[in-house]
Amino acid sequence: MNVAVHRGPLLATHDTLDLLFAELVEAARARDWARCDHVAETFAIALDVHFRHEETLQFPRYASASQLAAFEVDDFLAEHQLVRRAVGNLLADLRARTLSEAAIDRVEFLLRDHDEHESRSFLPWLSSRAHAAA
Ligand SMILES: [Fe+2]
Ligand SMILES: [Fe+2]
Repeated sequence: MNVAVHRGPLLATHDTLDLLFAELVEAARARDWARCDHVAETFAIALDVHFRHEETLQFPRYASASQLAAFEVDDFLAEHQLVRRAVGNLLADLRARTLSEAAIDRVEFLLRDHDEHESRSFLPWLSSRAHAAA
């Protein structure tokens, strides 16, 4: 039973995005196209909301913390574009009912790489701010 797709995340965490992506891949590999379309839409929205929240609110604040953080944000933004392009290609394939393992691997790799990158400094900074604000 798929879990993440029913949660309808407004602001998805990386874990939720990973779960949604895993559900998408599972549906695609099962050639369950109705479910695939549904999960693809939820994943695309969740990813977009997550990225936009970072780009419009969190990254500008983080970038103003230090010069190093500002350079990191430039890299994060470039990574977002790579993820968006790879996800766009994958979803176009799926809409055409084509399953490309290479396209799946590409998205998986880019998501993991970006997650690891943000986890090194940006996410610890974010959680320290959340604790400070609490
Ligand atoms: Fe993120
Ligand atoms: Fe990000």
